[in-house]
Amino acid sequence: MNTTATQTKSTAHGGVGASTAHSEGHAQGGKTFDVRILRQDGPGETSYWERHRVEHEPDMNVISVLQKIAAVARAADGRGVAPVAWDCNCLEEVCGSCTMLVNGRTRMACSALVDKLLAEHPEGIELRPMSKYPVVRDLVVGRQRMFEALKKVKGWVPVDGYYDAGPGPRQSPEQQQTIYPISECISCGCCMEACPQYHKIELSRREGESEEAFAARQNSFYRRGFIGAATIAQAMRFNYDPTGKMNASERLEALMSEGGIQDCGNAQNCVAVCPKEIPLTREIARAGRATTVYAIKKIFDR
Ligand code: SF4
Ligand code: SF4
Ligand code: FES
Repeated sequence: MNTTATQTKSTAHGGVGASTAHSEGHAQGGKTFDVRILRQDGPGETSYWERHRVEHEPDMNVISVLQKIAAVARAADGRGVAPVAWDCNCLEEVCGSCTMLVNGRTRMACSALVDKLLAEHPEGIELRPMSKYPVVRDLVVGRQRMFEALKKVKGWVPVDGYYDAGPGPRQSPEQQQTIYPISECISCGCCMEACPQYHKIELSRREGESEEAFAARQNSFYRRGFIGAATIAQAMRFNYDPTGKMNASERLEALMSEGGIQDCGNAQNCVAVCPKEIPLTREIARAGRATTVYAIKKIFDR
């Protein structure tokens, strides 16, 4: 495991924290604002700050800022630079792919509105990749760990197949009301990013190690790391499901294994940052009770 060192690549373009012209600056006759981006050219490389000046337009969000930066591909000091890389898809807080640290706060870039950000921080906007996942490039991170955790707790209902399994059990309105809010999770990772118990796992590829061998080694580390609030909530969501219940004991076993619910320190940061307002701490508490009851029952069933 390692953490990536950060440095300012060139003082010529200011670096973070340096004072510059901001929202009152002028480019092509319009108002401009500063955007500082923590960039990284590839996995395990040293990161560096780069400053950009962006022309202001009404109703911009952080994704439109990044699109403008990519189109110009020039830093604030006029140097031609490679376009900044970032992830996005739906642009309406549904896909969960655009999570980054905007002015130090983990959030969706597509719903981060520039005018609001500048009102809070007139000196400009600072963008960093999530700190708990390995950087692939610039603001793009590898989220495989999230999906390994979902696999570990069997975060699905196993009903695939070409045979007729007959009608499934009905979901009661009460079950729907419990399940629906949890099913709104978009795997954005904000809750994991904010969690003090969720530590970054980043491995480097060994010399001569094949891509497959590296992925297998990495996944084995991921599967032992803390699964995080979203995964705990998903395990509960599928255990509430009348069909998903058939794998309830496997999910509870996964919640009790290394990296499971016992790693939660109940700091409650997760629930504060979830863009979908999922009742994470309620589900963590319920998962705690469910695993305790399950463990006691196991002793008496011996
Ligand atoms: S309550 Fe648990 S999962 Fe949520 S932030 Fe705290 S330690 Fe992390
Ligand atoms: S629980 Fe909320 S913060 Fe966590 S991944 Fe799901 S939507 Fe994102
Ligand atoms: S682009 Fe899909 S959530 Fe932001």
